[in-house]
Amino acid sequence: MRIKESISLKKLNTFGIDVKARYFCEVETIEDLQTLVSSEIFHNNSHLILGEGANILFTKNFDGLVIKPVFKGIEVVRETDDEIFIKAYSGEVWPNFVMYCCEKNWNGLENLAYIPSSVGASPIQNIGAYGVEIKDVLDSLEAFNLETQTIEIFQNSDCKFDYRESVFKHEYKGKYVIFSVIFRLSKIPKFNTDYATVNDELKRLIVSELSSKAIATAITNIRKSKLPDPSQIGSAGSFFKNPTVSDEVFQSLKMQYPNIVAYPTAFGVKLAAGWLIEQSGWKGFREGDAGVHAQQALVLVNYGNATGGEILNLAQRIIDSVKSKFDMELTPEVNII
Ligand code: EPU
Repeated sequence: MRIKESISLKKLNTFGIDVKARYFCEVETIEDLQTLVSSEIFHNNSHLILGEGANILFTKNFDGLVIKPVFKGIEVVRETDDEIFIKAYSGEVWPNFVMYCCEKNWNGLENLAYIPSSVGASPIQNIGAYGVEIKDVLDSLEAFNLETQTIEIFQNSDCKFDYRESVFKHEYKGKYVIFSVIFRLSKIPKFNTDYATVNDELKRLIVSELSSKAIATAITNIRKSKLPDPSQIGSAGSFFKNPTVSDEVFQSLKMQYPNIVAYPTAFGVKLAAGWLIEQSGWKGFREGDAGVHAQQALVLVNYGNATGGEILNLAQRIIDSVKSKFDMELTPEVNII
């Protein structure tokens, strides 16, 4: 374990924002983490835990210690005839882990294919796509308490999952480093292919037998076609959450905007923020190197040298214009630092 100084984070955040960390340290083992937590640098500085950097917008240099867990490994914990419990360590790259499970016909993660994340960051954000969220497949996780320097086990219900939310974004923010996550997957094929786009892509691929691998492949294709190519254009996926409104609010919006895109949920009606942003005239907008993706208005992009401040400024202009057109407050889903 080595603490480095004045490290560029440009390649360590998917937005590709060119900022520096005053201190930076990769931790490979719990012993590394214990040594780091006992160091003067840890005590005298604020800290930030960074996974794949896929859900973060840096608006300035980070004048503290960036900790990157690179705990690796995938293990079978236990299994029955129907189910398998898989432990993945937090430094595993999410899309690779999903494909690994799909190849083995361990079902449950396929709808979450090709989401840029680390395994450790996935529960923090309760990542979700095409009708599945981490909360549906997570059994438990192990997290290192930075204060007591011990590993604690969190069961699914302890994580207080909600749409793009968990306890680790709120009362436990910055207090734990996720060490490993156990997923409860099914050996029996039961899939969620309710989304028309997923079905259409499966038809196009002429899949003879539905499998988690086929679904993951279809979803990877969809994501690749809609989202910016990460090797060319920086982004952090959806920049805003889809807002949920009451049925009354939805009905009055629908009267005014009959084409509004929305989905009923248990707690109200979820509006497609991408639609609201597109209707407000932002889709494909570009100013300097900050822009709104031409295929998906929910995704803000960095065409090269945009600063975090420029992206944030654009986000604020979008929030203001959606507010004035629809009287709807968009909230960012990325962490703004
Ligand atoms: N839409 C527009 N214009 C746009 C974008 C979207 O009109 O520019 C409308 C379309 O009608 C489209 C609908 O909005 O059918 C929904 O769009 P999409 O399927 O792309 O999903 P989303 O609601 O924009 C959410 C998640 C994504 C996830 C997809 C698919 C949030 C914040 N984002 O996006 O989550 O992949 O659903 O399930 O909930 C991610 O963005 O990285 C992500 C993992």
